Amino acid sequence: MLDQAQILRQMANGKQENLRQDTKIITVASGKGGVGKSNIVVNVAIALQKMGKKVLIFDADVGMGNDDVLMGFLPKYNVFDIIFNNMEIDDVVITGPYGVKLLPGGSGINRVYEITEYQRNKFLEKLTSLKDLDYIFMDTGAGISKRVLEYVSCSDDLIVITTPEPTALMDAYSLLKSVVNFKIKDNAKVIINRTVEMKEGKDTFDKFRHAVQNFLKIDIEYLGNISEDKKLMQAVRLQQPVIISNPTCDCAKDIQVIANKIIGNSTVNNNLGVQGLFKKLMNIFS
Ligand SMILES: Nc1ncnc2c1ncn2[C@@H]1O[C@H](COP(=O)(O)OP(=O)(O)O)[C@@H](O)[C@H]1O
Ligand SMILES: [Mg+2]
Repeated sequence: MLDQAQILRQMANGKQENLRQDTKIITVASGKGGVGKSNIVVNVAIALQKMGKKVLIFDADVGMGNDDVLMGFLPKYNVFDIIFNNMEIDDVVITGPYGVKLLPGGSGINRVYEITEYQRNKFLEKLTSLKDLDYIFMDTGAGISKRVLEYVSCSDDLIVITTPEPTALMDAYSLLKSVVNFKIKDNAKVIINRTVEMKEGKDTFDKFRHAVQNFLKIDIEYLGNISEDKKLMQAVRLQQPVIISNPTCDCAKDIQVIANKIIGNSTVNNNLGVQGLFKKLMNIFS
């Protein structure tokens, strides 16, 4: 009988028909918490889905997730039900605006460290049954943990979120430093959130890029800025993604520009795809 690891390896080698080569996996991380990762992931994902792309959000802040709250869901199940209760991924994934999919990470749960290798493999095996997706967004938690770095290493692209505040920029820099030091990636895309004027985004990015080029010897790409907008705060309180509740407000327009840019970028997919993801995950978990 094949063990789980062997089964996964076979899948990673392309023996699973469901998988699509060109699914782009994007990890969104920040270093500092509270800079807007979850709101950006949810709204950008909806914007992409609205433009005809098929998008899954994996709330990878497992045990502390809140993407479901931002989307106004009270999910019955979450990733822990796949891992501990043997549920199927399709029964746990919920469908949001325009058909965007969410795999909830569960909140108020601290069983993260109880997950055995067998359970993790089983979960990954189930993840491979996901079909026909253009993008998977992994919304990570705060901090520069081994777990966050693992997600980065499993993805095609890393998007770093920061605000113009020096504290957030320092943590974004530290995140990139770890990514470079561990040779996980030599590029990243950056979004400057909560800008009070358009110019602040590009100015902040240019300074940040200068430091990153000088000291980390890598280049980064500017994906855009998102305006400080009280409509976003109101949307969070209403538990409605701002791109749905207020599609013409400043931050929703900025989010749309970023979504367009992500689609434009997709042509330079490095083809890691879902199969590549599982190859990498195998390296991490085996
Ligand atoms: N562009 C913005 N304009 C106004 N408030 C924002 C903006 N981005 C984020 N916020 C505020 O920051 C809070 C935290 O955002 P969140 O997406 O949960 O951050 P993270 O996932 O990085 O912890 C939001 O609930 C909102 O109040
Ligand atoms: Mg978050």
